[in-house]
This record gives sequence, C-alpha cells and structure tokens, in this order.
Amino acid sequence: MKCHTRYTIPFVILSAALIQGALARGFAPAPTEVLEYITAHNEEWGKELCDLVNIPSISALPAHALQVDSAAKWVTNLMSSIGLRNVGIFRTSLHHPTTYGEWLLAPNAPTALIYGHYDVQPVDPLDLWDSDPFKCERRDGVYTGRGVADDKGSGILPALHAIQAVLSATGTLPINVKVLIEGAEEIGSPGMKGWIEAHKEMLKCDFVISADGSQVAVDQPGLVLGLRGMASMGFTLTTASTDLHSGLFGGAVQNPLRAMAQLISSLHSPQGKIQVDGFLDDVKDLSASELVDYKRFEELVDVKGELAKVGVDEPFGEEGHSILEQRWSRPTIEVVGMWGGFMGDGIKTVLPREAHAKLAMRLVPYQKVELVTDAVKQHLMSFLPPSCNLTFDFVSKGSEAYLANKDGYWMAAASATLKHVMGAEPVYYRMGGSIPAVAHFKEILDVDTIFMAFDVPDQNIHAPNEFMREGLYEMAHEAFAHLLFEVKAAYAETVPTTERAEL
Ligand SMILES: *[C@@H]1O[C@H](CO)[C@@H](O)[C@H](O)[C@H]1NC(C)=O
Repeated sequence: MKCHTRYTIPFVILSAALIQGALARGFAPAPTEVLEYITAHNEEWGKELCDLVNIPSISALPAHALQVDSAAKWVTNLMSSIGLRNVGIFRTSLHHPTTYGEWLLAPNAPTALIYGHYDVQPVDPLDLWDSDPFKCERRDGVYTGRGVADDKGSGILPALHAIQAVLSATGTLPINVKVLIEGAEEIGSPGMKGWIEAHKEMLKCDFVISADGSQVAVDQPGLVLGLRGMASMGFTLTTASTDLHSGLFGGAVQNPLRAMAQLISSLHSPQGKIQVDGFLDDVKDLSASELVDYKRFEELVDVKGELAKVGVDEPFGEEGHSILEQRWSRPTIEVVGMWGGFMGDGIKTVLPREAHAKLAMRLVPYQKVELVTDAVKQHLMSFLPPSCNLTFDFVSKGSEAYLANKDGYWMAAASATLKHVMGAEPVYYRMGGSIPAVAHFKEILDVDTIFMAFDVPDQNIHAPNEFMREGLYEMAHEAFAHLLFEVKAAYAETVPTTERAEL
C-alpha cells in the first residue's frame, strides 16, 4: 500500500495528461488507402485463416511435433511475403520453434515487439465438436476450428496482415516492428526465458504488443494491466515398503491418504486464507487507482453471474477480498491432483503404502517464484504428519507475475485505438491467467506490453467449438493498422526529440 499510494497521484496526472493530449490532437487513424486494402483482402484473408487453422499445431502432443513445425514454416513464409526482413525459425533451447521477422526502416520512431503464438490447445473431447476442429469453416458469420481465435485469428494474422496492408498501401511503416511468434505458449513457453535472454539485443524494443489476449465483450474493449505468475510441484508421501492388509496392519501403521489430507488442509484456513509462512509476505494491497478500475469492471461485467454460469452459487474465498481480487490479484495454492489407494469399483480393504498430490500456484506481482516455492516446500516438510516420508516428484521453475504501468504513450495509443474501433472507452483490468513470455519481456527487456487481440469470452477458446466472429476478425486487422499510426503520433507528441533512442 505504502509504495503504491506514493506513486498513484503522479501516474493519474500523467495518464490524464496523455489522454488529454490525444484528445487535443485527435485520433491518428490509418490512411484510407490502408483501410481500403484491408476491406479488399477480407475474403482472401479469411481463406488464409482457414489454411493456418487446418494445420493441427498442437504443442502439447508429441505426435504433432511435425505439424507444429509446418505451422512455423507457414508463418515465416507469410512474414517474408509481406515484406519483413531477417525472417527466421529458431529452435535452439526451445521446446518448439519460434519464428521471427523485423522491419526497422522508420527513423525517429519507436520499435514495437509484436508477440503471439501459432500453437494451439488439444481438441479433446472430440465428440463435443459440431465440426472437424482442423477443417476450418466459414458459416453464419463465424469461422470455426481449433486456434481460429486463440491465437491464429484473434491476433497473429491480423497483426501480420495489418503490416502487409500498411506496407503495400503506403510503401513504409510509421514505426519499427519486430515480430516474434512462438510455438509453445499453450504449454507454458518452456525455454523461452533463456531464449529471450540469449537474444536480448535482437529483441530490444520500446514496448511489446501482445497479439494474444482478449476483449471484455464484443462492444466493450479492455486493456490488461496485470497477469498472475505460476509455479507448480508434485509430491509423494510414503508410509511403508508395500501395500498392507487393512485388518492385519491397520491402526499400527500411518495411513498415507489420511496424512496427505491433513498435510494439504494445513495449507489454508477453512475460508481459504493461505497459511504458509512467508507466502503472502510480498503481496501488496491494490492502489487507489486500481480499486477504481476494479469497480468500473464490476459495473460492466456481471462477476457473480459468471460464477453462476459455471454452476457456482456461492463465491468462496478469504474475507475482505472481492471475487475479482481473488481471481486477479490474490495468490492461490490449488490442489490440482490428489490420489492413491484403491480407486476401482467396490471396496478393497487395503492400507496403501503411498499417496500423491500436485499443487499449482498462481502468483501475484512482487512475489518471487523461488521464494514462494521454497516457502511451500518448507511448510510441507514442517507440517508432515508423523511416520511418513515426503519426496518431491517435481518442482517447476515457474514464471513471475506481470504488472504494467498505466502511463506510457503506447498505453494511451492502445486505449485510443480500441475506443476508435470498438466505440467504447476501454476498461483497465487484470487477468488471473499467465502468459509467461509477457512476464519475461518485463523482467529481461524491461518493457511493458499492450494487449491487442480480439477474442471475447464466449468464443470457446481451449474448449470444443472454438469460433471467431468474421466482424471481429476484420476489426482486428483495422485495429492493428490504426495502432501503428496512433502510437507513432502519441510518441511524437510525448517523447522529446532529444530523448529518442537511436536505432
Ligand atoms: C523413510 O525414510 C527413512 C530415512 O531415509 C528410511 O529409513 C525409511 O525406510 C523410509 N520409509 C519409507 C516407508 O519409505
């Protein structure tokens, strides 16, 4: 709270000044010839979307590795054909290839790193799909298929096509762009942190545009200011060298499932407050301006209704924190798996020898993955019930949470662009999920990210029958094109000539 309150007022004044500046200047849209180019290519780009969706680039399944490769090649072919330079596919130290291209010929202009991913989630349960997830269709105003929204249609193709439109129609770009489209976002971007570190010079930029993200609703834009981080671990409790007869040994030997239940329940109070020593130490209260943003979001979105929609009538959670705080800005330790003993039909009178559990933690800004992971390990060891052994099966490296500043000409430009294309003032909010690369960009490149993607919550991303509205697909193209011009105008207005970075 302390450190937040101190900075809140200058930030508010600064953001207000930026927005006023934009108002005084007026929005700097993409020129008419660019917008005409987009409209003229709408049909063709719909077919391109289906081409890319039909490549089943499922990063989680080893059997799809070749298709993930094919999608990387498809993306780099497009990058080259639209006029990006130094286009390449990178593999070293990565789980799946990452694609890169750049265009750096705009002097006295900022450099944006555009980020997205061409990999997709698995499709099961397949029988719940109304059509083949990898035979993209265009019907009734939507495109269908796995990845058609997340992230092929809501982000990466609109971003690349917008570059194509501006370059073709005007012969140049208003700003410099570097484009990084990876193939392992859906499995947590393993290896990406080290890869970014190794390519720090190549990726150097003024801000990131994430083509992965979402909007609040079809008519309500939003700008994400924070993401939670992530860490996980699995462990086993062992009480004997073999499973035992529950009659002959029961009572004289510790039961590992009971011990596991006791150990797991020591992590939280009954109302869900985390009781791990040190875990909450670095968690900060929300600043006054963030509380205002949360309130505004609650006015726009039926937060309780979202829970009711998934069959939850009664919200749960630590006292004194709203549903949104619980979902966005409080950390969690979730038991994501817990098993052992006899799980078949009927009863088997066994006293099992071991029990297993997996924990997934969502972390918030200022928490450090390593410190909280150690705190949880320490807790499990010191609360271990008697007569059992604890072994860790795995402990993830995890990824840090992300928190952006609301000031910065790129944020003002993103806000003005979203308002221009969607017709409403964007709401600032956080997401409870994690996009590891965005946290790595902040940590390693020290840059903020603006989110420009056009999923809305009903489009079944990660679920059966994923779809993308035709209208939003076209709007996404226009938004990226406008953003390139608006961010240049916002930069020219706010960054004094003397402070501009040399390329
Ligand atoms: C528990 O650990 C101790 C010390 O390493 C070992 O002697 C014992 O056999 C272990 N017990 C089980 C049930 O694994």
